[in-house]
Amino acid sequence: MTIMVTGGAGFIGSNFVLDWLSKNDEQVINVDKLTYAGNLQNLKVLKGNLNHIFVKEDILNKQKITELINDYNPRYIINFAAESHVDRSIHSPDQFIQTNIVGTYALLESIRSFYDVMSNKEKNVFRFLHVSTDEVYGSLDASDAAFTEESRYEPNSPYSASKAASDHLVRSYHKTYGIPVLTTNCSNNYGPYQFPEKLIPLVLHNALCGKEIPIYGDGKQIRDWLFVNDHCNAINAVLKAGEVGQIYNVGGLNEKTNIEIVNLLCEILDDTTPKSNGTSYKTQITYVKDRAGHDKRYAVDASKIEKDLNWRPTETFETGIKKTVRWYLDNQDWVKNVTSGDYLNWVERNYS
Ligand code: NAD
Ligand code: TYD
Repeated sequence: MTIMVTGGAGFIGSNFVLDWLSKNDEQVINVDKLTYAGNLQNLKVLKGNLNHIFVKEDILNKQKITELINDYNPRYIINFAAESHVDRSIHSPDQFIQTNIVGTYALLESIRSFYDVMSNKEKNVFRFLHVSTDEVYGSLDASDAAFTEESRYEPNSPYSASKAASDHLVRSYHKTYGIPVLTTNCSNNYGPYQFPEKLIPLVLHNALCGKEIPIYGDGKQIRDWLFVNDHCNAINAVLKAGEVGQIYNVGGLNEKTNIEIVNLLCEILDDTTPKSNGTSYKTQITYVKDRAGHDKRYAVDASKIEKDLNWRPTETFETGIKKTVRWYLDNQDWVKNVTSGDYLNWVERNYS
């Protein structure tokens, strides 16, 4: 048996592939365009593992993706491929429209032609799981209830709007063509292999390099944080027992303000890697111009996946963040590799 993963060289995709192959003796076809965010170093422990087949390809290439699906006949296709960084979507939305909307459409078309000629037995097993985000629901005020699967879509950034559009396309291919789709809308992930443009790895990187730690606006925006392996577990639970056509919200029950996160990271570093001049990493915190259209608060009500699929996070924020800091400290070569290229140009453009 075989599964196909798109975007499996990125942060969550590579964690998923590593987790899958550590638990299953089932081939993974990993299709990734290798944008600035895709990194084969994330998968280097799989070298020589015949169950991991990597194909460098763009999900927009309908012909090639159709060929791959027909050749490998996967029982599951899990779509992680996306442009994923809000700030980049503000500076240049074009690639977000291309990959997240047109790319998801192209993938769905390839799947449609494949699904049409499947036997009934294969149709019963086949699933397309689309990995999406809580950001499609927009922003909450402090007293609002957390997002449920019934919350209105109100995306505010080009990133979240492009993800919202892709979710609608996925839904329509189920309603119109009967494709057995599943969608997960997850909160902010953190953990190993996250590209240091996102808050947590960026703070760790800048702190350790003696650079300013940038806080957008007042730093009081709230995100709900989930350790990446718990997201992978949720995806597995939805693939296994999720009801076709359903959406599952996934969250960590960990609402924190950005400034709380940054202070905590500085305190952990003060403990594990004290600065030679005796000052705290907190002295590097710098308030900078706010992000345009900055969403104030995300919070996820994950009671549906808990109740229906018996999923809940295994890591608390306190345990997950310690593991994450330890991973970044132990993998500074990885950080150096990814920070040597496009990332540097990006930092210049975004923070100047
Ligand atoms: P990422 O940016 O780290 O990785 C994206 C991967 O997709 C990269 O390997 C990249 O090379 C690949 N890719 C991009 N465009 C492609 C294309 N056209 N064809 C093939 N491959 C392409 O992103 P991530 O953080 O791992 O997020 C994965 C998915 O999860 C995304 O769909 C994102 O919207 C969603 N998500 C992310 C978070 C989070 O906190 N990171 C939370 C909820 C949902
Ligand atoms: P990010 O990791 O980009 O995820 P998202 O925007 O998808 O939630 O940002 C998390 C929060 O941290 C968000 O409110 C923006 C804020 N932030 C900063 O304050 N400074 C930074 O340098 C970055 C990258 C993010």
